[in-house]
Amino acid sequence: MKKRILSGMRPTGKLHLGHYWGVLTNWVALQEEFECFYMVADWHALTSEWKGGSARAIPGNARDNVADWIAAGVDPEKSTIFVQSAVPQHAELHLILSCLTPLGWLERVPTYKEAQQKLAEKGVDNYAFLGYPVLQAADILLYKGNVVPVGEDQLPHLELTREIARRFNSNFGAEVFPEPQGRLTPNPRLQGLDGQRMSKSYGNTIDLGEDPAAVEKKVKGMFTDPNRKKRSDPGNPAICNVFAYHGILNAKERHARIEMDCREAKIGCVECKAELAGKMLDWVRPLQERRKALLSDPAKLDAILERGNARASEVAAQTMKEVREAVFSSR
Ligand code: TRP
Ligand code: SF4
Repeated sequence: MKKRILSGMRPTGKLHLGHYWGVLTNWVALQEEFECFYMVADWHALTSEWKGGSARAIPGNARDNVADWIAAGVDPEKSTIFVQSAVPQHAELHLILSCLTPLGWLERVPTYKEAQQKLAEKGVDNYAFLGYPVLQAADILLYKGNVVPVGEDQLPHLELTREIARRFNSNFGAEVFPEPQGRLTPNPRLQGLDGQRMSKSYGNTIDLGEDPAAVEKKVKGMFTDPNRKKRSDPGNPAICNVFAYHGILNAKERHARIEMDCREAKIGCVECKAELAGKMLDWVRPLQERRKALLSDPAKLDAILERGNARASEVAAQTMKEVREAVFSSR
């Protein structure tokens, strides 16, 4: 039997290059080796998007994100694509796991502290946001996930998931849950266009569905080696973000050539960025065509999700049977 993968993304906006190179490429690559479950984490989104009318954007974002997943190569014939809120067992398991999770574990999670500082206006001082990683543990454990392809920032949540799984198994004397391992892509640290951490809120991203003219403009505005002031100055590719992006879009030989030419001032930054823009557009064009086709056929997307929800529900129901047996049986 194949080992299982469970992973998810919060539908809080459009997906960008960071999602693609940090997570999605792994979702696609691991489809043969594992039985995969890929989830729209709409309840997770709600923990920070509940105020006023924010929640109303979640279903639209979900469709847009799923179109990107499939356009990027997630194959609904191989993998189960589903929506968290369509499988109520996530909430049920979340409640049970929350009984055995000490508050201290949650208060220590770095993403929690950061959110309290940066997202205060979103109302993340609520009860659900503290329990965010417990819901995530429920997501993973409900499918007995062995491997969880995620971005680097999620590794503390996986550590917590393992602790919760261990505590459940030992406390109830039943080996219901395996301990899941995180999996990073080869490029987990791709920076934003300005060299800072890539994030929608910093405005330093390129969306997968970004208009081609905007892609070109953004690439041409990227930060380069700050010490290279004149065209005749030799550059240092090791500290140049444009060079890092070239690494993703070029074969090794071309990447090595750019490195040499930069160090010897044989290539200028304007030219170097123009090449990157061209390569990025060539790379993203077919993805955007598939994305557009998917978004223009809502019935097809609905059918994919319905099928995925049904398959996910089967597995979830089976696990919850074992969980109830472990927790409540009187033997
Ligand atoms: N917390 C993840 C993120 O923000 C999304 C997520 C929810 C997830 N449930 C998950 C990721 C389960 C992996 C496994 O990106
Ligand atoms: Fe960066 Fe290219 Fe300029 Fe070198 S030539 S500093 S790699 S943009």
